Amino acid sequence: MDAKTESPSIPRQRAFQILEHGRRREPASRVVDWVLIGLVLGNVAAAVAQTVPDIAARHGASLQLFDRLSVLVFAIEYVARIWTAPEHPLLGRYRPLRARLRFAATPLMIIDALALLPLLLELLFPASALAPLTRLVRFLKLARYSPALATLGRLIASERRSLLACVIIFTGVLLLSAAAMHAVEGALQPDKLGDMPKAIWWSASMVAKIGGGDITPLTTLGRFIAAITVMLGIGCFALPVAIFGRGFYEEIRRRDFVVTFAMVARVPLFARLDAAAIADLVAMLKARTVPAGTTIIRKGERGNAMYLIASGGVEVESAAGTVRLGEGDFFGEMALLSREPRSATVTALRACDLLVLDADDFLRLVDRLPDLDARLRAVARERT
Ligand code: CMP
Repeated sequence: MDAKTESPSIPRQRAFQILEHGRRREPASRVVDWVLIGLVLGNVAAAVAQTVPDIAARHGASLQLFDRLSVLVFAIEYVARIWTAPEHPLLGRYRPLRARLRFAATPLMIIDALALLPLLLELLFPASALAPLTRLVRFLKLARYSPALATLGRLIASERRSLLACVIIFTGVLLLSAAAMHAVEGALQPDKLGDMPKAIWWSASMVAKIGGGDITPLTTLGRFIAAITVMLGIGCFALPVAIFGRGFYEEIRRRDFVVTFAMVARVPLFARLDAAAIADLVAMLKARTVPAGTTIIRKGERGNAMYLIASGGVEVESAAGTVRLGEGDFFGEMALLSREPRSATVTALRACDLLVLDADDFLRLVDRLPDLDARLRAVARERT
């Protein structure tokens, strides 16, 4: 890890707050967001409109000018974001150049870079048919402003094992039904089912319930295979829908705010973790907002999670007395480390945003990160 060599810059900090705001947003940051969202939508609409010959003939020049101007703004935005990278809570510990390179490799910055690519392509290949397609990539810039997309990304990450199982089942159904159909009717319909790629296309069409295109089974056995394929296909689609449905329900039930990378990186306990470990934590932590007066932990109960205070404050009442904990502090680690009942009752003093780490994830984490384990145990020892 590199030492930070550049002194903090006030204008850069300010630009960072505006561009990469935290959860509580200020007016300047909102204005910048809305201007950029407006430009992205306008730019995408212009890219679509330019493909209509009539509109292109009448307004081509103005649409082109709008495109160039919005790309100029996107370019300034990109450079500004890269410039502010050393202010990122996690990247501040690297040399500025390294911080910027790491920042440039994050998914949202890659999308921003891709949004600039079409201009370069258009300059190099003016009449490319790919122009509208490459310009529409700019639509992806909106991902930055959608917490629901972040939720979806986390869901995919946390449900990856179940989703992989769905992919395997889906592929198995495709291959088996294609092979069966190829064996039964390959000779009867050689132009449609004569080889496996053709049969797989038939199978995919059946599974997707678009009816197998213009291929109708000619034999009873062929129809039987087609019927089974359609039924299995319904199951194949229902499985991921159920997984996502349950995942979203859980998220909405438990989550009142989005756990962001910056939020986790700011927690002092995680200050020494690297980017990969922080990214893992973002996926593991669940957000929970509790109103003032809520009893979060009751003394004597079994421990099932550890809590980090993203904002707000709590009161800990143990045999030794009363202690207050605030933003950046954590609690609930003792029962998980000692596997003994909760040592104290913890109550919210005011509305709190909490990051919750389930016991299973906690134990896996401390198992993997001995440094973190040692730090947690040291704090737990001090608290007893
Ligand atoms: P746990 O025993 O799991 O549940 C109650 C939590 O209160 C405990 O973990 C600690 O995180 C916290 N706690 C207990 N005693 C103290 C203390 N003296 N100071 C700060 N926090 C405490």
